[in-house]
Amino acid sequence: MNCVIIVGSQWGDEGKGKIVDLLTEYADGVIRYQGGNNAGHTVMFEDKTFVLHLIPSGILREKLSILGNGVVIDPAALLEEIKQLQEMNISVRDNLRISNNAHLVMPYHLLFDQLRESRKGTQKIGTTGRGIGPTYEDKVARSGIRLGDLRNSVHLKDRLSKIIEEKNSQLRHYFGAEQRCLNLGHVLEELQNHFQELEPYLCDSAQLVNDQLDAGKNLIFEGAQGTFLDVDHGTYPYVTSSNTLAGGVCTGAGIGPTKVSHVLGITKAYTTRVGSGPFPTELDDETGEFLRSEGGEFGATTGRPRRCGWFDAVLVRQAVRLNGISSLALTKLDVLDKFEEIRIAVAYQLADGTITKNFPTQQLDQVTPIYETMPGWICSSQGIQQVDELPKELIAYIKRLEDLVSAPVSIISTGPRREETILLPSAPLINP
Ligand code: GDP
Ligand code: IMO
Ligand code: MG
Repeated sequence: MNCVIIVGSQWGDEGKGKIVDLLTEYADGVIRYQGGNNAGHTVMFEDKTFVLHLIPSGILREKLSILGNGVVIDPAALLEEIKQLQEMNISVRDNLRISNNAHLVMPYHLLFDQLRESRKGTQKIGTTGRGIGPTYEDKVARSGIRLGDLRNSVHLKDRLSKIIEEKNSQLRHYFGAEQRCLNLGHVLEELQNHFQELEPYLCDSAQLVNDQLDAGKNLIFEGAQGTFLDVDHGTYPYVTSSNTLAGGVCTGAGIGPTKVSHVLGITKAYTTRVGSGPFPTELDDETGEFLRSEGGEFGATTGRPRRCGWFDAVLVRQAVRLNGISSLALTKLDVLDKFEEIRIAVAYQLADGTITKNFPTQQLDQVTPIYETMPGWICSSQGIQQVDELPKELIAYIKRLEDLVSAPVSIISTGPRREETILLPSAPLINP
């Protein structure tokens, strides 16, 4: 039995989808435990590219794929994703299972996300507009609707009528959006239609996951977003609304921490961020522009250009601690192929002049990174599959990052495709 958690160690988009897909070959199932269709996980193999938003990337290898209780589900988006996969001949019906307890992203959540963001003006979070924050708010406020609740239409109607009354009051009086008010009958009808299609997938996912573990199966828990988008440990308030850290697996999938065998931190060889919020090593210049174009750094969900900057070792070291990362998968090294010099932030100077290697929880927007410079390799590393074929400067870069963040690298990714990877013997799951 192996239980591997895969988490992003920066601000998301580190290449989790690629690595999950790769390791799924050696797994029996993949589980999403938090977030929703704010995620965009890209997987490329043969001549195909898939971007998964909600369904675990394991579905592409037709393995058991579970949406755990901690995930929030927009039923229309989920049905669309199922349809797209089926059109590409992926067998979804036999492999996908969804928790009865997963909360639904309702039409008013989408509205509130978008209306709030436009009200915030320059202080907006830069959300994906998928209703994720408002859905988690209602979950914690105990006024959310769970997929399993759709089974009891009388009770549902009763609860929903009160909820919609309150939401409409806010739309009318706070947002001044009378024309966006919701009609109970329409919302119910749409939900019932979605439920008919989704009901065959519903299950007690915590029981299923634990049964799998008891049967000695190998499971991957596919994190979405990244460490610094975590609602508790991220760059609050510029975060998402779930616990993206490895710890989120326990609550979001219903397993105990003693079951976890490996935490794999997916780490980009530089740093990117989409949306607002502090980003110490951001390059607002032509170097940043070059990273964006070489790395194809445009959001897989919203298409927004990603902000780009140098590798931040202070940040990733903190991620190693917060997640208990066992090893790292270092991705997108090939994107640095053309740089004569590569910089790494090794410490921060705080506003009062103090220098620290520790991640400050406040005032990240006021730190100045202290850089170290390393020579680039100026040759193509794309697609290299053997360590001894890597340029020596690239190996030195990896070794320096390992030292700085206090974690070993077990996977080296040299391109977006499955085969453009080096799996070191210490990679999780590969040794039975
Ligand atoms: P995720 O959200 O963490 O799954 O990452 P995204 O899919 O949003 O963004 C990562 C992007 O980098 C995708 O376009 C991947 O196809 C691509 N990618 C992943 N690994 C590598 C790599 O090693 N090299 C290059 N050049 N691209 C990569
Ligand atoms: P994957 O799984 C990168 C960011 C948004 C915004 C903030 C809050 O592909 O790595 P939300 O819609 O969640 O309320 O937005 O979080 N964000 C992501 N950034 N990758 C993601 O997912 C993200 N999911 C949300 O851009 O800054
Ligand atoms: Mg992504």
